[in-house]
Amino acid sequence: MPAPARLVMVVAVAENGVIGRQGDLPWRLSSDLKLFRRLTLGKPLIMGRKTFESIGKPLDGRDNIVVTRNPDFDAAGTLVADSIEAALHLARDCAGARGADEIAVIGGAQIYRAAMPYTDRIYLTRVHAAPEGDTVFPGLAEADWREAAREPFAAGPKDDHDFTLVTLERLRPPDEAPRGAA
Ligand SMILES: NC(=O)c1ccc[n+]([C@@H]2O[C@H](COP(=O)([O-])OP(=O)(O)OC[C@H]3O[C@@H](n4cnc5c(N)ncnc54)[C@H](OP(=O)(O)O)[C@@H]3O)[C@@H](O)[C@H]2O)c1
Repeated sequence: MPAPARLVMVVAVAENGVIGRQGDLPWRLSSDLKLFRRLTLGKPLIMGRKTFESIGKPLDGRDNIVVTRNPDFDAAGTLVADSIEAALHLARDCAGARGADEIAVIGGAQIYRAAMPYTDRIYLTRVHAAPEGDTVFPGLAEADWREAAREPFAAGPKDDHDFTLVTLERLRPPDEAPRGAA
């Protein structure tokens, strides 16, 4: 039997912790969007309602699970969950159906915070800039994580900044998401 899919986060964080501004990203990083696609393709994604609206459409080749407390939320091409635990439950079913080895939490800040206790791995793009913003990534307890890989990228013609992809692995096993929570 295949191992259950691991829960990962995919996030781009500036040196000052900023991840968003006025409902959007505070930079243009075309190369990081390509990395994002590579890291998430073929996997179930979990995102907050605001992040879904900022993207504006479901992402192709992936299951799009939107977390919202609004019982009337309805958007073509998405699955809807009313809690992070319900989203994890749905995502596990999707991962099983696809044979995906990872479920990716793709933000924003509220959803990163809620999913943190269940997360095994973080694909963290460290953006080498300190832009103004109104949304920040929740702090990481350093003792819980080890750096498994690091890959620097110089800004290309469609990138505002240099960045580094850092892969963090949790040192202790993550919390078990409650079963049957959907
Ligand atoms: N740099 C990056 O990698 C990155 C990635 C993603 C997003 N972002 C940025 O982050 C910003 C958005 O982040 P955000 O924190 O404001 O919003 P968000 O996490 O995307 O969405 C928040 C919404 O999710 C729902 N929600 C949150 N917690 C919930 C829970 N426990 N149970 C049920 N529903 C829950 C609520 O929806 P309802 O109000 O509908 O109930 C809430 O208003 C944007 O600027 C975006 O561009 C950056």
